[in-house]
Amino acid sequence: MSELVVAVETSCDETAAAVVADGREILSSVVSSQVDLHAHFGGVVPELAGRAHLERIVPVVTEALHGAGLRAGSPPVAAVAATAGPGLIGALLVGVSFAKALAMAWGVPYVGVNHLEGHLYASLLEDPAIELPAVVVLVSGGHSLIVEMTGPGAYEVLGETVDDAAGEAFDKVARFLGLTYPGGPAIEQAAAEGDPAAIAFPRPMLREGLDLSFSGLKTAVVHYVRAHPDVAGADVAASFQAAVVEILVTKAMRAAESVGARSVCLAGGVAANGALRAAFRAAAASAELGVYLPSRAMCTDNAAMIAAAAYYNLAAAGPTALGSGAEPGLAFPGHRLGTEGRAPRSRPDLSSPGAAEKI
Ligand code: KG4
Ligand code: ZN
Repeated sequence: MSELVVAVETSCDETAAAVVADGREILSSVVSSQVDLHAHFGGVVPELAGRAHLERIVPVVTEALHGAGLRAGSPPVAAVAATAGPGLIGALLVGVSFAKALAMAWGVPYVGVNHLEGHLYASLLEDPAIELPAVVVLVSGGHSLIVEMTGPGAYEVLGETVDDAAGEAFDKVARFLGLTYPGGPAIEQAAAEGDPAAIAFPRPMLREGLDLSFSGLKTAVVHYVRAHPDVAGADVAASFQAAVVEILVTKAMRAAESVGARSVCLAGGVAANGALRAAFRAAAASAELGVYLPSRAMCTDNAAMIAAAAYYNLAAAGPTALGSGAEPGLAFPGHRLGTEGRAPRSRPDLSSPGAAEKI
């Protein structure tokens, strides 16, 4: 019989709930976005987010249960999960408290999930045949990480941003250009009308290593626009986007080469970007790597990815104590070794039967 996990996600400005079977089959996934609520302020207002989660959590969970054919009474679920961090504390507490209460009422385990770890499962959920090891580029509004994934729960951080996250750079540049919040989709839309080669913005830290940096690029955009007030906004958006895409694709391919990965994946909100997806796919094809791009709905925050992470974490580490809390600054669970000084691993022999580890 399949094991169902009910999960809620309330770390930022999306109230989400999902039911996932065996960590891979999405029975329902409901996302109530608060974008309209915060757009007016140009960013997420934590207090408003917490209050909105509180209002929406019951209808969103109810819809997810009904969508999966479950009744709220005492459904046959294996666990209830919630994002325990990182995120806004007032927002996280709504989901964590709600999930714990459901778990107690239903007499099933509670599983607290790291939001970043959740994002890693988006590709796996949609394509369980991903060939491992995979290099996952996790680019969201708050984090930018390059992670090697060798199996569920087995990660190693290869690189990370030394300043702003990629999504943060999109949001800040969009705000500077007077575009709407969230900035990523707004920049992508504006860029569609612009020339990506119009302005040669810098690509910080492009030439070496696997760490990322976006703050200098954002500052370069600001200086350029101040010095050229008549420049077309579409050209600025397209040229900025091209710089971010080149940085992320170059680093992903370097990481894949350095660890002998068999595939590369994108994760996180920025992975919804069409230019990034196209360039990522092309670079992976020429490096003869498998490539997995979650659907756009699975790139941005959702609870199905949290349910998938919870399923594997429950099997590996058991339930989370009901006395555990929410951690706004929760770090990514993979410790960092770096690739410097580490012997490059040879690429596994693709020709041998069973060489592809699949999960
Ligand atoms: O993963 P996510 O939904 O929430 C966090 O965990 O942060 O990511 C949100 C980030 C925002 O910075 C948003 O501007 C960015 O993802 N984003 C995009 C696109 N859609 C969302 N960035 C670039 N292009 C997009 N199409
Ligand atoms: Zn996220």
